[in-house]
Amino acid sequence: VDAQGVRTFDLSMQAGESDLGRGAPTPTWGFNGSFLGPTLRATRGEQVRVNVANRLDETSTVHWHGMHLPAAMDGGPHQPIAPGARWSPHWQVDQPAATLWYHPHPHGETAKHVYRGLAGMFIVDDEREIALPKVYGVDDIPVLVQDKAFDGSKLDDTHGLFQSAGILGDTVLVNGTPGPFLDVTTERVRLRVLNGSNARVYRFHFDDNRAYAVVATDGGLLPAPVEARELLLSPGERAEIVVDVRPGDRTVLRSTPPFIESNRFTGDKDRLDILELRGASTLRPSPALPATLAPAPDLADDTVGATRQISLGGSNTNFGKMDLERVDVVSRLDTTEAWDVTNSDGQVHNFHIHDLQFQVIRYAGGPPPAVLAGWKDTILIAPNESVELRMRFTDFADAESPYMFHCHLLRHEDQGLMGQFVVA
Ligand code: C2O
Ligand code: CU
Repeated sequence: VDAQGVRTFDLSMQAGESDLGRGAPTPTWGFNGSFLGPTLRATRGEQVRVNVANRLDETSTVHWHGMHLPAAMDGGPHQPIAPGARWSPHWQVDQPAATLWYHPHPHGETAKHVYRGLAGMFIVDDEREIALPKVYGVDDIPVLVQDKAFDGSKLDDTHGLFQSAGILGDTVLVNGTPGPFLDVTTERVRLRVLNGSNARVYRFHFDDNRAYAVVATDGGLLPAPVEARELLLSPGERAEIVVDVRPGDRTVLRSTPPFIESNRFTGDKDRLDILELRGASTLRPSPALPATLAPAPDLADDTVGATRQISLGGSNTNFGKMDLERVDVVSRLDTTEAWDVTNSDGQVHNFHIHDLQFQVIRYAGGPPPAVLAGWKDTILIAPNESVELRMRFTDFADAESPYMFHCHLLRHEDQGLMGQFVVA
């Protein structure tokens, strides 16, 4: 934090080499290192500035996924950083505590840049005192999950070139580490799970089928903990789960394929072990889970200023293929809108919108399940299903700078399954 009270971060996008568990180095990209980036952390109300230096030999961008901020600071395809250039967005963090993330968003090249290793977490804290495990690296653990394909020891970013979803890899990395385990020293551990994969949808469960508590999703804490034995996360989504551990415990967080793994030629080792938890022989006590966590989203009774139909199919939205020169939606500042988003083809898609968090009103024809009862910015939509979302456009009007909405399967996004909106 500098003399003006601004919390400043420095990020350098750079090329390097990583082992990634293969026993020999492979070319990768990272922020401030050779693979992935540091966890950034700020508290609600703080002014932040990020000095981003692009030391790659390609133009890139850095987008703050899930962050409520002015469109000119958003880091989408309209804020390119040329090789050798710098970009220093700044904003005031003003949203509830949440697990957000950052990654490149260059037009048509996002899949490659993320796959090579450019991604990191951005944790927002707020002043609310909630009794959840919160010692970073001890009982509050970042779990950035990515599947990768290798050709020998070489990270293979041409893999799956001809499959529609993009790259599906048979090796899972957690925070860049293959086959990871965590030594747990407390009775409860909080895992901040981020699906930072290009295309894979995970169904997370434990090998012994134990129940755990889902306490937060994309935009922050749920109204109340939700007991679950499995949880679907599509690319870009986050969930915080709290797991009870016994002394001497061994349990493996695992993913078995959900319904959607179709349409591909490779990357089909679908049962993937994600992270082993190893309980110490004695565990320090953890706080009991609170019965309630945060206010529920409150847009259901708002007056709806506009209703929009969005459909996702092939490699475009109903507005057409992504076009940097075309604004698809103009939303009025301080209004609430209802967006009906439909997956109109037989492939898996999800829907992500920049700047704001939405409330799920209907999911696949019914009320949303309890794990979708909090604020969200990314949501899985099964083939031929639809979701009804409600969102409020606040604080930042700028008719000149569009925000994006798109499918977060990165190949689909790159191919044009993306649109632009402005708040005016
Ligand atoms: Cu995580 Cu438009 O992106
Ligand atoms: Cu898609």
